[in-house]
Amino acid sequence: MGSFGESKVFTEHQEALVLKSWSVMKKNAPELALKFFLKIFEIAPSAQKIFPFLRDAKVPLEQNPKLKPHALNVFTLACESAVQLRKGGIAAARETTIKRLGASHFKYGVVDEHFDVTRFALLETIKEGIPEMWSVEMRGAWAEAYDQLVAAIKAEMKPSS
Ligand code: HEM
Repeated sequence: MGSFGESKVFTEHQEALVLKSWSVMKKNAPELALKFFLKIFEIAPSAQKIFPFLRDAKVPLEQNPKLKPHALNVFTLACESAVQLRKGGIAAARETTIKRLGASHFKYGVVDEHFDVTRFALLETIKEGIPEMWSVEMRGAWAEAYDQLVAAIKAEMKPSS
């Protein structure tokens, strides 16, 4: 499979766009995180089955306190991935994290469609979160950071030894 993050150039400008927008969105992180997750389940209700804490939850979906941390994880790791892409690739910088995420997401039963829905929901959430900063370039920068992160995770999606 080769190494990640080197096939396409992630520019300094793209990194700046991701970091700048995240620093603004961070102020509103809990609300954004919830929106992000509800979008995923609106498009793909069956994805709820993947989350162990939702299977027998007694509180309504939108009030589940455990949703937010995952949404924030996706945001922050995509952001970190943007920074790492500029430094020469995700795999080299965060091998243990990516290996762990690959093994855990394999175990949860996450498949390509889940990553696709999450990608769509992430970009929509950013668009709605920072309408004044949104642009084709901004979309491209986040999409690339997410795609590279997911490619790295998918390459490690195998049972942990
Ligand atoms: C847990 C990151 C995509 C489902 C986690 C954790 C992290 C994380 C850091 C906690 C540590 C762990 O369990 O390994 C990410 C990133 C993603 C991503 C960076 C995309 C770039 C997805 C997708 C799904 C998913 C698409 C399914 C729709 C889960 C589940 C857990 C989890 C079910 C366990 C949650 C729990 O039991 O609290 N993820 N994830 N993840 N993720 Fe993801």
